[in-house]
Amino acid sequence: MNSLDLMPNAHKEEIVKLRAKKEKLLASDKKGVLVYRKLLESVRHLRAGHLDFAGDVVQIGKAEELESGELTRVEEVLRSLIPWRKGPFSIFGIDIDAEWRSNRKWRRALPALPDLEDKVIADIGASNGYYMFRMAQHNPALVLGFEPYLHHYFTFRLLNGFAGIDNLQMEPLGVEQISLFENSFDIIFLMGIIYHRSSPVDMLRDIKKAMKPGATLIVESQAIPGKEPVALFPEKRYAKVPGTYFVPTATCLRNWLTRVGFQKVEIFFEHQMNRSEQRRTDWMTFESYTDFIDPDNLKLTVEGYPAPIRVYLKAKV
Ligand SMILES: C[S@@+](CC[C@H](N)C(=O)[O-])C[C@H]1O[C@@H](n2cnc3c(N)ncnc32)[C@H](O)[C@@H]1O
Repeated sequence: MNSLDLMPNAHKEEIVKLRAKKEKLLASDKKGVLVYRKLLESVRHLRAGHLDFAGDVVQIGKAEELESGELTRVEEVLRSLIPWRKGPFSIFGIDIDAEWRSNRKWRRALPALPDLEDKVIADIGASNGYYMFRMAQHNPALVLGFEPYLHHYFTFRLLNGFAGIDNLQMEPLGVEQISLFENSFDIIFLMGIIYHRSSPVDMLRDIKKAMKPGATLIVESQAIPGKEPVALFPEKRYAKVPGTYFVPTATCLRNWLTRVGFQKVEIFFEHQMNRSEQRRTDWMTFESYTDFIDPDNLKLTVEGYPAPIRVYLKAKV
């Protein structure tokens, strides 16, 4: 399926040109690309029979579908893709306990979602596609992930190579390119992204352009506690993450959306972040949430800023 066939208003020529440029890079023998391509090629002949995206664990294949040599190779490939940030997955029976229990975020968002059936959906910053697989359960026309990081992009390609779901596709493009997809999406997910952008309001404007009339935006974000509509702008890092710009309160984020022109903006969920949701595991062996928070005061980050809460908002065009 060509995703652009479902988007008559998208700037096709420009998108096709950008894609061609990216595809040239992805087909090149540059070291950083080749390593991923070789991993994928070594298991590209394998296709899963059993698929189950309804539960917390995205299941692709069962162990008994493969011969033992194939299963060993799949495990080697999956382990080569450590760190696994989003999950959980079970791939041919190999359980991947990722850093994030992404199933919890999905459970919180689910009750607020419009019907996904037959919809054209964008997942901006889709990572390895965990949420895209969860969306597939609801029979969308298309879920298009935007993910510029090669590690995540290739991980999704590997997973969907096994799963073979035609209406899940990923662009190796970033949110910077979203306005090329003018008037194209019924639903856009923007989860875990907004505090990484130096111009969050401009980004929201671009996203709005990519939405059809009546479309829904779901925003999930790290936030600081408080009722005032303010945002924290860290001196260098926030919770050890250097690429963090504005960390808003829920009401500040609501105001950004409203002033961009979104309608019916509502905050539908808030919770304190915690170490059982984001943690070091066998599949993500680097620092995680507990390393980012002051051990003597769990209400502060290691830099002395308010520890993050997470907020969920919904808005219409
Ligand atoms: C904090 S993660 C959030 C992942 C997922 N959406 C979630 O909520 O769990 C941020 C994701 O955005 C991706 N990303 C980084 N720069 C981006 C950009 N310019 N446009 C879109 N996504 C980007 C990262 O590679 C990463 O997968």
